[in-house]
Amino acid sequence: MNADPRLLGRAVKRIAFDEETIARRVRELGREITTAYPDGDLLVLGLLKGSFVFLADLVREIRRPLHVDFLVASSYGDATVSSGTVRLVYDPETELEGKHILLVEDIVDSGRTLQKLLTLLNARRPKSVEICALLHKHIATELHHPTRFIGFDAPNEFLVGYGLDHAENFRHVPYVASLQ
Ligand code: IMP
Ligand code: MG
Repeated sequence: MNADPRLLGRAVKRIAFDEETIARRVRELGREITTAYPDGDLLVLGLLKGSFVFLADLVREIRRPLHVDFLVASSYGDATVSSGTVRLVYDPETELEGKHILLVEDIVDSGRTLQKLLTLLNARRPKSVEICALLHKHIATELHHPTRFIGFDAPNEFLVGYGLDHAENFRHVPYVASLQ
């Protein structure tokens, strides 16, 4: 169907969200976030690597002062153990205490990663912690915190592009697609 040279010869089953649709929604999210934080220090904390494209576009649509930092989380131990813990491979040096933290994630699937991170971040006494996810599969059973800002409800398919990868490929694809 397509000959996008970025796709390693894989055929796109469906473009779930095209560039224009994403850009429009990111602008809306920027407005929602701007309104939601009338005062206080805002730290936008991107969960690497998946959030890097989304975060770059999103922060440019937020019309208030903010800081940006990132964190890298890694599950360790036996990956088949569902209660596997999360370790910070890169821990933001920015002080979190007293700040509004907006945790930016590419996609919420089981919600396990975010739940562990929330526990970890809350221990640093931020003023608030909210999640902004580009995509949400609405199948998260392990996340006990509402996702305040959601770009799109995602189909329960494996999606790539706009930061999302499959084996580290396709992060640079500017739209979100499901592969054959
Ligand atoms: P969770 O902890 O199960 O919510 O996993 C979330 C992480 O799994 C995301 O940050 C992604 O890195 C990855 N992930 C989950 N679903 C997809 C998908 O459809 N495509 C690409 N990565 C995904
Ligand atoms: Mg990933």
